[in-house]
Amino acid sequence: MLCLGIESSCDETGLALVKDGKLIAEKLASQIDVHAVFGGVVPEIASREHLRVLPALLRELLKEQDLTIDDVDVVSVARGPGLQGCLLMGLNFAKGLVLSCGAKLVGVNHLWAHLTAAGLEQELLFPSLGLLVSGGHTHIYFIESPLKFTLLGRTLDDAAGEAFDKTAKSLNLPYPGGKLVDDLGKQGVVDKKIFPVPYVNNDNLDFSFSGLKTAVATYVNNHPDLRLAAMGVPDEGSEDSKISEARKNMLASFNYTVGRTLEIKVERAIKAHRGIKSLIVAGGVAANSVVRSVMADVAKKYSIPLVLPSMHLCTDNGAMIAYAGYLMAKAGCRHDLELEAIPRGRVVPTDWICEG
Ligand code: KG4
Ligand code: ZN
Repeated sequence: MLCLGIESSCDETGLALVKDGKLIAEKLASQIDVHAVFGGVVPEIASREHLRVLPALLRELLKEQDLTIDDVDVVSVARGPGLQGCLLMGLNFAKGLVLSCGAKLVGVNHLWAHLTAAGLEQELLFPSLGLLVSGGHTHIYFIESPLKFTLLGRTLDDAAGEAFDKTAKSLNLPYPGGKLVDDLGKQGVVDKKIFPVPYVNNDNLDFSFSGLKTAVATYVNNHPDLRLAAMGVPDEGSEDSKISEARKNMLASFNYTVGRTLEIKVERAIKAHRGIKSLIVAGGVAANSVVRSVMADVAKKYSIPLVLPSMHLCTDNGAMIAYAGYLMAKAGCRHDLELEAIPRGRVVPTDWICEG
């Protein structure tokens, strides 16, 4: 079964081909540079970029594999959650393709696809606990199978990735700042008392990062030297070494605080759900070195295998959509042309049609 995956939910246009569960080719066009000057994704510009690059990416992808669209059995598309205009570009492109070549259409939940992406690299064992930490979401799921996810906890306000990006912004570091916060923090010393570990003195599995955002803003206001005069990457050569060191220490402490928050909630979820066979951590923030290391510690403590997709599968990509679509099609599920795009904030329905 040859499955074409289409990702266009935010600022990455991704296309990939998965054949019988194995990734054979992929293409990714990132729009990071286009949006960086605005300090965040501009939805209208993002939609137009998807529309502009999708046909050329598909042409290249197929040509390099010596395939045509008629070889594709399943067209899998991210149908949400995401930016509505961006999703519609992918969805309409997918619908046009299935009309022209007769392939099956499958609409996949972008968040679930992040969590099953690691299945391209290793066998996934179920039931598993899934932590999805991205720019738009912080969710904990109990996953019974690739088609059965139960949401156990979610952020009440900002997502983990947003907390990273806003921290970067408060220091005048370029968007998206997560990786830079991680890299600079690695060189600093943690002070566990600078930032309070947010929203853990309760008995639930939800998250709230808005208090941490305020704590970061207050800290930067009280230490204005830490903020770069102009947006950019700190230049060690020209900067006072004390300031550079203090910024790294602040970021090390920030990384620690987010890592500790995630650790407490994931550990709580593991304790509440016996029989978990694997812990899957996915989404852009799963690339963070502190998050990776605390999750490895939790998994070890409870003797549960840790599943971390490799870096290129953590951020948005077409391969995870192709793989999720392959899993759905293998289970006999598909959508018809009425498939709807689901914007952020709305629950993605499980409205697929099952055959056999
Ligand atoms: O999953 P993703 O690529 O896109 C969404 O669907 O949101 O996640 C992007 C987020 C951004 O907020 C980015 O700053 C963050 O992931 N990120 C990181 C790191 N790499 C990317 N955050 C912390 N540490 C990193 N190394
Ligand atoms: Zn994503």
